[in-house]
Amino acid sequence: MPQRAYVIEQMISAKSIAARVEELAIEIAAEFRDTDKLVVVGLLRGSFVFIADLVRELELPVEVDFMEASSYGNATQSTREVRILKDLRGEIAGRDVLVVEDIVDTGYTLAHVLGILRSRRPARLRTIALLDKPARRETPVRADWIGFEIPDEFVVGYGIDYAQRNRNLPYIGRVRFSAEDDAVTSGS
Ligand code: IMP
Repeated sequence: MPQRAYVIEQMISAKSIAARVEELAIEIAAEFRDTDKLVVVGLLRGSFVFIADLVRELELPVEVDFMEASSYGNATQSTREVRILKDLRGEIAGRDVLVVEDIVDTGYTLAHVLGILRSRRPARLRTIALLDKPARRETPVRADWIGFEIPDEFVVGYGIDYAQRNRNLPYIGRVRFSAEDDAVTSGS
């Protein structure tokens, strides 16, 4: 599929992200200080960099697991469908669970995943999102911890992609599309 040309402007530096991850890890460790072994669930693929940094800052015994969800708009309806492409390997009944998301946008993905996980009766279920775009929300869901609130702009980097590109940028950048051109002028 041809991609529109775009450039990437830095929005949140690698240094700011690292500082924020450190702060969040302290808050999370305080919340789960009495937990035996926290299950940290990364939502693939966008959260893979964030979860890697977060667990290394967490001074807690943790287990890491992953889920992959895919959401897509149905052109004939206003609702969004979310499909689970990969489920957890482990059981979470009676366990303390932290779900790690890259961005909460419309909110359908997080709401759907939380519904599934809640039905498995974890002891505690909390969520963290690196980025939150509250202006885009279509369903009422909010992560317990948020790295940064951002405006309604398309972003890439730090694990987050545009058409599978730019996940390896160390910072979060906003994508600026140029008017017309099929070539990608800025990559990772
Ligand atoms: P939601 O169900 O609309 O909240 O979708 C959240 C998912 O959409 C995120 O996990 C991302 O994978 C994707 N997404 C939302 N905003 C962006 C963005 O600005 N850049 C790249 N992916 C995004």
